[in-house]
Amino acid sequence: MSGQSVRFDDGAAYEDMMGNWSRRAGETFIDWLAPRAGMEWIDVGCGNGAFSHLLFDRCPPARLVGVDPSEGQLAYARSRLGGKPASFVAGDAMALPCPDRSFDAATMALVIFFVPDPPKGVAEMVRVVRPGGEVASYAWDMPGGGFPMEPINRELRALGVPPPGPPRPEASAMGALNSLWSNAGVEAIETKAITVERVFAGFDDFWDTNIKGPGLKQTAERMSPPMLDELRARLRASLPRDAAGRVACQARANAIKGRVAA
Ligand SMILES: C[S@@+](CC[C@H](N)C(=O)[O-])C[C@H]1O[C@@H](n2cnc3c(N)ncnc32)[C@H](O)[C@@H]1O
Repeated sequence: MSGQSVRFDDGAAYEDMMGNWSRRAGETFIDWLAPRAGMEWIDVGCGNGAFSHLLFDRCPPARLVGVDPSEGQLAYARSRLGGKPASFVAGDAMALPCPDRSFDAATMALVIFFVPDPPKGVAEMVRVVRPGGEVASYAWDMPGGGFPMEPINRELRALGVPPPGPPRPEASAMGALNSLWSNAGVEAIETKAITVERVFAGFDDFWDTNIKGPGLKQTAERMSPPMLDELRARLRASLPRDAAGRVACQARANAIKGRVAA
C-alpha cells in the first residue's frame, strides 16, 4: 500500500510542517537513546537537518555526516548547522557514500518508509557503524494511524483522493522494524512507541501550515479548487477545537535501537 508520492525539495517549507513534528518526536527519541557527547554520527535521510540539529543541541557529536538525495533539503541543513563539525552530502541510503565501520552511530529519522529497499537501508547503516556502535530509527506508525497528517488523509480518502504518503508505509510497523533489525544481525534490540502532540493556534494555522508542507502541497496542486474547498470545509467541521479555538493534533512514532555485533 502506498500513497501519492511526497517530494522533498524545500527545506524551509519542510521546517514549518514536518520539521516541527520531527523535532517533537526526535527529542523523546534522543532521551531514549541517551547518547554521550563526542560521538561520530551518520544521519541517513537527514533532510533539512531537523534531527542533526537536535543532536548538536542535546549531545554534540564530534563529527556528523548527513546524507540525503534532496539538494533543497541539504542546502537548508548546511545553513542551519554552519560552523559545526558537520557535512551534508548528496547520497542514497541504498549505497551510503562512506567507508565500512566509520561511525559510532547511525540513524534514520522518519526515513525507513521512504527508502526503496528497507532491509538494504538497515544493512548499509550496519556496514558503516563500528562494532558495538548503535543503529537506530524512528518513523511515524503509518499502519497504526500515527502519521501527523492522518486527519487530512482521512478526509482525502473520503473524497476519493489518494492521500500523500511514503512508498513503504508498512516498514514503520513495530513488528516490521523488529524484523528489519534482527534480520540485519543487530543485537540488544529495544523498541519504544513515541506519542507527541502539537497545538495549532486555530484552524487557519493548522491549514496554512499543512498546505505548504511536503505531501499536501503537491496533492492540492492536483485537486480542483472546489475539491480543495471541500477538503478545507470538511476539516474545519471535523477537527476538534478547544474553547480558545485551538486545534490539538497527536501523532505516534515507532522507534527502534540496537547494537552492531562485535
Ligand atoms: C520525512 S523526511 C525526514 C528528514 C529528517 N530526517 C527529519 O527528521 O526531519 C524524509 C527524508 O528522506 C529522504 N529520502 C528519501 N529517499 C531517500 C533515500 N533513498 N536515501 C536517503 N534519503 C532519502 C528525503 O529526501 C527526505 O529528506
